[in-house]
This record gives sequence, structure tokens and C-alpha cells, in this order.
Amino acid sequence: MQPTTPLSADDAHRHLLNRLKTLVDTGKPEITVEKGSLKLAGREARDVAAQFGTPLYVYSERILRTRCREIKNFIGYEPFMPNYSCKANTNVALLKIIRSEGFHADAMSPGEIFLLLTAGFRPEEIFFVSNYVDDEEMRFAIRAGVTISVDSLAQLERYGRLNPGGRVAVRINPGIGDGHHEKVITGGAHSKFGIFHTDVEHIFSIAKRYNLTITGLNQHIGSNYLTGTVYLESVKRLLSIAENFADLDFIDFGGGMGIPYKNDAARLNLATLGEQITEVLEKWTTRYGKRITAKIEPGRYVVAESGLLLITVHALKQNPGITFAGTDGGFNVLARPMMYGAYHEILNTREVDGTAGTPVTVCGNICESGDILGENRRLSDLREGDVLAVLDAGAYGFSMSSNYNSRLRPAEVLITEEGQLRLIRERDRLEDLLLHQIY
Ligand code: LLP
Repeated sequence: MQPTTPLSADDAHRHLLNRLKTLVDTGKPEITVEKGSLKLAGREARDVAAQFGTPLYVYSERILRTRCREIKNFIGYEPFMPNYSCKANTNVALLKIIRSEGFHADAMSPGEIFLLLTAGFRPEEIFFVSNYVDDEEMRFAIRAGVTISVDSLAQLERYGRLNPGGRVAVRINPGIGDGHHEKVITGGAHSKFGIFHTDVEHIFSIAKRYNLTITGLNQHIGSNYLTGTVYLESVKRLLSIAENFADLDFIDFGGGMGIPYKNDAARLNLATLGEQITEVLEKWTTRYGKRITAKIEPGRYVVAESGLLLITVHALKQNPGITFAGTDGGFNVLARPMMYGAYHEILNTREVDGTAGTPVTVCGNICESGDILGENRRLSDLREGDVLAVLDAGAYGFSMSSNYNSRLRPAEVLITEEGQLRLIRERDRLEDLLLHQIY
């Protein structure tokens, strides 16, 4: 769990200008701070909130494209293709932007395959990283014509039975993991994912029995790492395992590239990690005797910083020793703080610089005591009706939202490169709560 140190005014301002507003230099800033208040597409954040209602997810196309381009240039080795891991955010308007930046994508479910196809990804651009699927889901993916990865020996058997003679990838668990919370570490003996690296030999007999060609190896060791040490180690491990596979077309090292949610966290040095991976890959290629495609699967790095969540303060409450700012930003809207104790910067859009005043605990309106977005935050001169901005909410924000307490999921708005505000998802309606109910 990350500590919740209050930001100083300087830090908060630097944070805004350096991270969320990375693109102020372009001369076309979509997100700016003017006279202390946050502006979105040239308009006061509170006016945007009033137009679309809160809670509201707001994304910057320019920041999204910037992060896409960083990832596209991640390694010098060629061929290289990043798969956007769409579990982070499946808004179709955003998927289209990401595809236009030259990405392919990975999917975790038939639903994600469906959304990616809807966004224009071709089947051969989709990688289905399956996890404990049944015959029906496996058949769906086979029929869709996407590349499939299986993550256990039993699932390889299932694939072989359903599609003998097929071409398939296998997910390897390299025995090491990394990530911001134990719940998102996906490598190591306690992870449910992948074929454990010591079991690799069994893959060959199953493949032989069903006449399968193993065309790819993939892994994903966990999410939101800020130093690449363990990732690089896992890359080396996967490559050494790959030497035993004769027919590989690609190798996929997974996602997990982190972003500095906290102002004082150092940014992941993508360039250095990319250079290290390129060097390892070039040497490996010589040994393997064939140049195969290198892939990665980032989700968070691509979308997190492009999004912020606007919420409204509905009431302030003073209990002994603690002040609550009660908002409409419940954990049905943003689950990460409740689920992982995750930290998101929160700013008062009316007074971004301000840190005077009593520290508050920002909470949502859900009927559970754990519904806390952030503790001990200094939001200067906080008043009822203020609109707060929760930063870095573009990844695992809307995609993990729910209708818990029969609340309506929020709308989503895109600030386009031209500086227009475009609604890209309507807020749920009350009637949606009845969808598929039989009564
Ligand atoms: N590939 C696979 C197979 C994955 O399971 C994941 C994430 C990714 C790629 C993308 O990971 P990323 O680059 O976004 O870290 N809800 C959590 C994160 C869960 C990640 C699950 N798997 C959170 O909000 O922190």
C-alpha cells in the first residue's frame, strides 16, 4: 500500500504541468492551469462538469497519442509490435486512436475481441491471451481468426481437441513477478497464470499429439513496475526458454510498464529498458538463427495519464479528528483505491495550487466504509460544490467501474487534438439498470 503524503503546493503544480500537461509546450494545451484553476479545452473544469455531469471521465487525445508513440519507439530491435492491452480501457473511440498509432491489441475475453473488432482491429491484429476458457469461448476465438495463447497444459489439450493441426501460442510463467500490489503480480509459483517454466517439456508431447505448431511464447509478470530490473530478467528467462521452440514467429514479453501516480515517484526509464532489451534480443536472434517479431502488451502506460476523473463535493463533514469530503466518486466509478490502496493525486479544480486548510479524506457515496478515494489530502478552501480532478484515471478506471448500489456508470468525454470536447460514452440511464432483468 502506498503512503498518502499530502502534496505541497509546488509539488501539486509541478505535477500538473509536468505530467498531466506534458503537452503544454506544443502551444495547443488542452489541459491548462490558469489563475489557479483547471481548464479543459479552454473551459473551466467546473463548466465541463456542469455540461456533462459528474462523475465524468475526461481524456486527452494528445496525451494518449504521445504515450502511444513512446511505446512504438520502445525498442530498436525489429520487427517490433506492441499490443495494447485493452483491459485498461475499452472505449471504442480510444481504441480507434490507439489503432491509428499502429498498435495491435491483446484481448482477455470474447467481449474484448468483439470490442476490438468493432474498433477496426483485424483478426490478425488481435492476440487472445486466454485464461481458463471453456469450449465455447475457445471456439469463439478460433472462429474469429485471432491468434490464441493458452495458459495451462490442460488448456493446450482443449485447444488441440478443438482445433487439431492449429497454430497456437503458449503463455509461460517465468517464475518471477513484479507489480504495485500482490493482487496484480502475475508471475511466480502463486500466480494462476501461465505454464510454469519447469513444465515446458510437457508442451511438446501435447503439441505432437494434436499436430499443433507453437508459433509464439508470451508472458506477463505483473502490473505497474517503475524499475525494469525484474522485467529484464523475465525477458532473458523467456528467451532462454524460447530456444527450445523451433517454429516461433513471435515472442511477447508482456505489459506492466508503470506510471508515477505519486508526484515523488521517479518515472520509469523506458529508453534504458528498451535499449537493454534490444541488446539482449539481438544476441538471442543470432543464436536462434531467425528474426522473429518481438511484442509487448502495455495497457496502463498507454492510457492512464491521458485520463482524469471529475467528481463533485456534495458535503463536508467534520468528525472528531477527521474531515470527510463526500463526493460522487464512489468505488463503483474508480475501484483502484478501494481494491489496492492505490494512490491517485486529487486536485481542487477551482484552486489547483492551494494546499492550505484542513487535510480531508475524500470519499464516495457508496454504502461501504472502504469507499475512500484518498486520505489526508490538502485541498485548499474546499467547499461544497467544488469539482475535484482525480488524476491518472485513464487506465482501469471506467473499465473496472460497475453499477454497484445501482449507481449509473459515468459518461466519458474526449478532448480532441483540435481542442474540441467530444462525448464518447453517455452516462448510464436508469432504464439500463433493468437491462436483461426478467420481472
Ligand atoms: N497482458 C496481460 C496478460 C495482462 O494480464 C495485463 C494486465 C496486461 C498485459 C497489461 O498490464 P499493464 O501494462 O496495464 O500493467 N486493475 C489493476 C491492473 C491489473 C492488470 C491486469 N493485467 C490496476 O488497476 O492496477
